[in-house]
Amino acid sequence: MCGIIAYIGSKSVESVILVCLTRLEYRGYDSAGIAVLNNGELQVRKAVGKIKELEMHLQAHPVTGNIGIGHTRWATHGEANQINAHPHTDSQKNLAVAHNGIIENYYELRHEMLGKGYVFHSETDTEVIPYLIEDKMKEGASIEDALHHSISRLKGRYAFVLISDRQDKKLFFACDGSPLIYAKGENDVFLSSDIPAVVPLAKENYYIRSGEWGWIKDDGELVLFDKKKSPKTYETHQIKIEAKDTEKNNFPHFMLKEIFEQPKIIRSIIEKRICLDEAKVLFPEKESDNSYLGRLSRIVLISAGTSWHAALVGKHYLENIAKITTEVDISSEFRYRNPIVSGDTKVLAISQSGETADTLASIYEAKAKFLRVIAFVNNTYSTIAREANAYVDLLAGPEIGVASTKAYTAQVLHLILYASFLSEIRWVSKKEERKKLYSEIKKLPEQIEEILSQADIIKQWACDFKQSKDFVFLGRGLNHATALEGALKLKELSYIHASGYAGGEFKHGPIALITDQVPVVCIATKCETYEKMLSNIEEVKARKGKIITISSKGDEKTAKLADYNFSIPECIPLLSPILNVIPLQLLSYYVSVERGCQPDQPRNLAKSVTVE
Ligand code: M6R
Repeated sequence: MCGIIAYIGSKSVESVILVCLTRLEYRGYDSAGIAVLNNGELQVRKAVGKIKELEMHLQAHPVTGNIGIGHTRWATHGEANQINAHPHTDSQKNLAVAHNGIIENYYELRHEMLGKGYVFHSETDTEVIPYLIEDKMKEGASIEDALHHSISRLKGRYAFVLISDRQDKKLFFACDGSPLIYAKGENDVFLSSDIPAVVPLAKENYYIRSGEWGWIKDDGELVLFDKKKSPKTYETHQIKIEAKDTEKNNFPHFMLKEIFEQPKIIRSIIEKRICLDEAKVLFPEKESDNSYLGRLSRIVLISAGTSWHAALVGKHYLENIAKITTEVDISSEFRYRNPIVSGDTKVLAISQSGETADTLASIYEAKAKFLRVIAFVNNTYSTIAREANAYVDLLAGPEIGVASTKAYTAQVLHLILYASFLSEIRWVSKKEERKKLYSEIKKLPEQIEEILSQADIIKQWACDFKQSKDFVFLGRGLNHATALEGALKLKELSYIHASGYAGGEFKHGPIALITDQVPVVCIATKCETYEKMLSNIEEVKARKGKIITISSKGDEKTAKLADYNFSIPECIPLLSPILNVIPLQLLSYYVSVERGCQPDQPRNLAKSVTVE
């Protein structure tokens, strides 16, 4: 939530920061701003809305220089207007701050500063930072000491970058709980909320750790300290992401590109993880202590949003395949309900971004209860990957569309593979059973290709549904989660109200929603609850609801009952959530486009939800 960028280099700071902000826009797009130092003069420009608005504002009011900071906002404190847009300055406009996260004690600090005569202009929590620094500097402290003192006063999760006309050759920063990366190339040095924003200029990076702060000199050297002001050393790593991974590559939107990337991603996960001859799954990143995994009595899955839906599917896998009691908790609930746990419980946190504040907070909660935590993340440098005891790389590649698609299928696939991996360690599966499962998994990439080759069918449906006001999604068993995911995708992208229900629950209330205006998506692929889903379909039909079915290829009976039917290649029921979700991703995408929405950047949302 919120993207921050800082740059020192030989290029025009304005254009570099604009490019980087455009790539960070998925983190928030309520307003944007830039601050630049030019021969000791601080220039600040802000605009409400997307980066394009800032770009237009800069055309009318240009800035020049080669050291600067930028921000793209997802509003937490204060509405999306120009005053609340970052960067925020001190009262003398000598320094500017761009911040991501929340200063939880801002109210107390604000009152303290008001008492000292400071006048606040914005409603943000951020504005206390430049004032705290200014106040310390008024007492005679250097900017470095004032920065150190000020961060000792802040509570919450934050990363911020700062420039000052008093030190016009340094970029200052501080980080506690929100992501911030130092990245450098031949002549360019950055601080950024993520890596895709700074490729291909940056070649190597260092993820700044919580509690670290310091500055970058104009020769690019990073000067790093811990909270006690002891100097710290660091090691940079080569950046592996390529520029093409962060571009749309002829697709109109990142979301569509990412949906179509799924066969390639699933194929590469299979290649990396499955050894068919030995009937083994390879998790080179896993914890080495297999005997501990064998003794586990319970797994608690924690996650949010789409990742929570993956966890719901994962529960079925862990219970059916690894025969281990599994609970699923929404991260923000687990953290506050003081769960009863014992030492043989393992927590498995799932997060695409690896930065979700709720999930991170529940990891801290679990660790405080002395539980071991393994994280399934798509960013192995993320805070969650670092804070967990071990992590598994989801291998989906950068996901830029705000709606999670390829990361979801990668999560579900990893969960079945992990369940199978545990089943071997726990001696609850036979080699032949695992071999059979892996040969079925190997068919997935081609099956997904087959589904995607019929994307036009769904595109046509989208015209019929663009005026719908409500949608219902029904699924049972493993595909209850698919129904929830289909509903979430549709509402987040096209702002149509949509709800997902377990088929069996439908008659206990929600069926009252059905009229001839309500499309009902019924996930009715072949599995043990197939007949029961047919009954659901009949019940909806009897009440004149519009029936959309996701059925197994060759199932004429279901197709005949439906007003709209999409056929899925035949697969074993365990794998159906991976295939069944693809037409629902396409449906939400095409309906969103038909309604003139922006599928890559739906309103009010941000890709990384780094506030609780
Ligand atoms: O990065 P995470 O997987 O932890 O994110 C969790 C949710 O915020 C995320 O899945 C969200 O629900 C997606 N926008 C849904 O498409």
